[in-house]
Amino acid sequence: MNVLLIGSGGREHALAWALAKSPKIEKLFCAPGNGGIAAVATCTDLAVADHAAVIAFCNDNAIGLVVVGPEAPLVDGLVDSLQAAGILAFGPTKAASALEGSKGFTKDLCRDYAIPTAAYVRCTNVEAALLELQTRSVPIVIKADGLAAGKGVVIAQTMADAEAAIKDCFDGAFGGAGAEVVIEDFLVGEEASFFVLVDGRKVLPLATAQDHKRVGDGDVGPNTGGMGAYSPAPVMTPDLIQSTLDEIIEPTVKGMAERGTPYQGVLYAGLMITDKGPELIEYNVRFGDPECQVLMARLQSDVLDLLLATAQGTLNDVSAKWDAAPALCVVMAGEGYPGTPKKGAEIKGLDAASETDGVTIFHAGTKLDDNKVVANGGRVLGVTASGATVKQAQERAYQAIAKIDWPDGFCRSDIGWRAVEREQA
Ligand code: AMP
Ligand code: GLY
Repeated sequence: MNVLLIGSGGREHALAWALAKSPKIEKLFCAPGNGGIAAVATCTDLAVADHAAVIAFCNDNAIGLVVVGPEAPLVDGLVDSLQAAGILAFGPTKAASALEGSKGFTKDLCRDYAIPTAAYVRCTNVEAALLELQTRSVPIVIKADGLAAGKGVVIAQTMADAEAAIKDCFDGAFGGAGAEVVIEDFLVGEEASFFVLVDGRKVLPLATAQDHKRVGDGDVGPNTGGMGAYSPAPVMTPDLIQSTLDEIIEPTVKGMAERGTPYQGVLYAGLMITDKGPELIEYNVRFGDPECQVLMARLQSDVLDLLLATAQGTLNDVSAKWDAAPALCVVMAGEGYPGTPKKGAEIKGLDAASETDGVTIFHAGTKLDDNKVVANGGRVLGVTASGATVKQAQERAYQAIAKIDWPDGFCRSDIGWRAVEREQA
């Protein structure tokens, strides 16, 4: 089968690497891809926002499945266009992508199906939002309703910060995404991510992971797309996984189907494990980045079988096998990230680093220039290691990083600290 993967990040390199291992793959294409994906797939400069062009490419190249990596093309309705053209696609429709595309939509679904989540209110103008704020206390969470590249959430410690966040949103700091604001209570606990595949009705649990969103060691500094991750997340015990499935995932899947917008694709639940149990912070309608890197490092089943069964509505017929050994990914980013990163320098030592025991290096913001790997983005590499313990995986990832020669790059030095502390307790 020929497959087209959409995207250019570390998530897509991990998916391409896993797909390329499938004996059923004949040709793997990626649009647009990156310097690392080019080693396992044919990268093409297809304009992904031009749905007619994507459909024409699929027809010209006998594509049997399109796998959509990032949220933007999903929220933009790429899967709807492909389906209308009779092309099989992995990922939710535009309507079902509202689970990520509108925080207010998801909160209302939680209300209607009694899904545990922080108490909230939706506001469509600045006056109403400021009035609501007066009835609440800090810390309080202010969220732009729409997609804001992970930047639309402010945890305000003072009323003045909360007011400023509300005004920023309605002043257009996040464009159309901020035309509506969700104000919600602050949840206390440990965060974890849980991934499941959904084929419209049936849920196939995948695995748990934990991300490190802040840029600095010790979880300080501005939020990023994610500076590192590991899987599994030890905080997610089998009991907590079961209650997440029963109280959060299953009612969501049922609700989406009942509303006539069944969910098909991977569903990523961002959870807060509070003293009352798991509560939903948010949904994403795609794999996490860098969580996908650690999931693919642990997946032993053929990923193509899983993605195909999801898209075809036959998840009952497949199962997912996982390596019990943990995997950990350390992100290397260009100096300046999450602000403007330094780009353009050559990255050396990648071959030697990849030879470290248990290590696979996924590229995110790289490009090939005369066969040299050059930094070309904010998050640039995801150095991913497996190990008998999180500690061993962590050591291997940092051993590999020590062999990478890229003066403009930096990484956190404490990825996995919570799990390592648990292992040593
Ligand atoms: P989101 O984009 O909704 O995942 O929010 C980004 C981050 O903000 C989350 O990963 C949490 O760390 C934090 N966050 C969001 N909502 C809440 C909440 N209600 N209580 C505490 N932290 C939150
Ligand atoms: N790493 C967080 C995300 O993919 O949203």
